Amino acid sequence: MWAIILHGGAKDIEAEEADANREGCLIALAAGRAVLERGGSAVDAVEAAVRQLEADPTFNAGYGSALNADGEVEMCSAIMEGAEFKIGGVTVIMGVRHPISVAKAMLEEDTIMLAGDGARRFAAQMGLELCDPAELVPPEQKATGTHDTVGCIALDETGLIAVGTSTGGLDGARPGRVGDSPQAGCGFYADNAVGAVAFSGDGEEIARKMLAARVMHALDPDDPERAIGEAIGHVAELEAEAGGIVLTADGRFGWLHNSREFAVAYQSSAHAEPRVYLSKQEERR
Ligand code: GLY
Repeated sequence: MWAIILHGGAKDIEAEEADANREGCLIALAAGRAVLERGGSAVDAVEAAVRQLEADPTFNAGYGSALNADGEVEMCSAIMEGAEFKIGGVTVIMGVRHPISVAKAMLEEDTIMLAGDGARRFAAQMGLELCDPAELVPPEQKATGTHDTVGCIALDETGLIAVGTSTGGLDGARPGRVGDSPQAGCGFYADNAVGAVAFSGDGEEIARKMLAARVMHALDPDDPERAIGEAIGHVAELEAEAGGIVLTADGRFGWLHNSREFAVAYQSSAHAEPRVYLSKQEERR
């Protein structure tokens, strides 16, 4: 079997943004699903899905990322696979079109994370697409005032599970700031024997409470959502917001959030049609 779940961020989604969030998630899901349906790897599926989210200014990742206090785009991204625990991460990277592809290239390195100019130089050495940092700012970019990050988890037919995250961080953040998204055990984790998880939301609190590690330790294959709910309870205590997605080793989905909305799409080889929701409440209706 194969399965894929992704999210477009824990955030407020206004009525006029609803269609763009739904469509963006479905387009990204289709890109990842196409890889899995043709027998491709979970790592390639995660990259394909996250590249779509990074290309869509609806989401705070890649093109349309949040602007830091200097009005610049600094991005973070990571990818992890659950067989050999390979991790690739980039942080405070500028002037690349697809941070997730740079993170994926890092999977083949001993180094697990590169920052700033070193990360961009690595992208250039790998022949990945560079751009003028200003090209990542859409003409009508508005400060969202909300946090979000994109994330995706895929399970392929060989049983490999992979997770990816990508974010432009927080609007107005101090230049050089790093949140949870590139930090293993905080914003993401994957282990073929257990499953994988990805978070979005207030990065400092997610990192302080190591939400991904908590979920991996507590994940019940019969009730995957419970571990997400307990983890979110730890940031809620700090009056912070988060949303998380999880996929178990046998392909069961779970997701929850305490943000107002959290756009999520998922599908498996057992579902003929993809599902997309802007909140858990909508899924439960
Ligand atoms: N969750 C994304 C960030 O705080 O950077």
